Amino acid sequence: MNRSLKTPSGSLASTLKQGLLGLATLALAASASAQKFEGLALTPPMGWNSWNTFESAINEQLVLDTAQSMIDSGMRDAGYTYIVLDDCWALRDRDPEGNLVPDPEKFPNGIKALADQLHEMGFKIGIYGDAGRTTCAGYPGSQGHEYQDARTWASWGIDYLKYDWCATGTRDAKEAYTTMRDALRTAGRPITFSICEWGDNEPWLWAQDVGHLWRISGDIYDCWDCEQEWSRGFKVILDRYHALKPSVVGRDGLGQYSGPGGWNDADMLEVGNPGLTLAESRSHFTLWAMITSPLMAGNDVRSMSPEIIDVLTNKDVIAINQDPDGVSAWRFGIVPGKYETWIKPLQGGDWAVCILNTSEETQTAEIQWHRMERALSGEFEIHDLWADKSLSTTHKDLKAKIASHDVLLMRLSPKK
Ligand code: GLA
Repeated sequence: MNRSLKTPSGSLASTLKQGLLGLATLALAASASAQKFEGLALTPPMGWNSWNTFESAINEQLVLDTAQSMIDSGMRDAGYTYIVLDDCWALRDRDPEGNLVPDPEKFPNGIKALADQLHEMGFKIGIYGDAGRTTCAGYPGSQGHEYQDARTWASWGIDYLKYDWCATGTRDAKEAYTTMRDALRTAGRPITFSICEWGDNEPWLWAQDVGHLWRISGDIYDCWDCEQEWSRGFKVILDRYHALKPSVVGRDGLGQYSGPGGWNDADMLEVGNPGLTLAESRSHFTLWAMITSPLMAGNDVRSMSPEIIDVLTNKDVIAINQDPDGVSAWRFGIVPGKYETWIKPLQGGDWAVCILNTSEETQTAEIQWHRMERALSGEFEIHDLWADKSLSTTHKDLKAKIASHDVLLMRLSPKK
């Protein structure tokens, strides 16, 4: 046996050993590159995306002005890190080598120069692609070009990819998104991967190991509950999020599938856009914070009102969204046609409790804390986060007037 190690079969053994070492090195490299992609979205990503307001009318100056306004308004320092170029940044054709080409009229210095500037300003940059033959607006998709496009984006310094689902024919969603995940990993730059297949293939059941966030519905629109063929108001998306009956014990809606590293994406914010009243913007922001959806602003931040800045930068509300435990809220109760209650556990034994007035009139909500005793045990101090004032304790029941489509958001902390 020993002898054979020194004879031709000995060299076979050494070849085998080298081969095994090689395989081990490859496996290590693969797990190192996988690790680079973990820890990218331990809390829901926050930023700004161009689509909801600007659609195809994007360019370098708009993006830089937006970045500056995000600094001036305090958004960057409140945590809005990603600036995402949505569809329509590229030319309609690839170059002769098959590379994607930024539209030189919109981005005269290319995307890499823009990425460098955004990085210097303290942001990360996101871009948009599509798993099919074309994007939703008809620009080149990445089907068959996944590894090439991932290398291009990595070489530009991209930090976030929103990857859409138009023109995908009979492609299998899990396979298509896994291919791009592997392409991004191979390209080697940590890129937060945003899956945008609109919830058609129940991504909450398979996307945890594929991307960092996944859309749960078609496109959001700046209205309360309108519903057109493709777009819908935030209340409609919220109902989809928790289609099941209210829950005393929680975690039975889509919320049970999201957590640190992988989030249900209820779509970009419409906060501050013309179709929403201020109360609706506040409710929309509150509920997206409660259900741990990414907070991607979708308004024109260059011209937003002070009231909208206050909504988008409220650090106590953002802290509900960014709570390190990452547990989503669930709908605890509904008073039909009047209001509904959502609750969310927070790190350290605190709770967020939110009451949304779903009616067209002011409502007086009555909260009997003992009805929540399976969630809240003991007495809690109550802080109203939008009014920034203390509301006594859960020792006595609470009556609160809430305007139409407005919200009461409370943080409960165990009484000391
Ligand atoms: C789809 C997406 C939107 C947006 C557009 C761009 O509709 O769901 O969020 O990216 O495509 O064309």
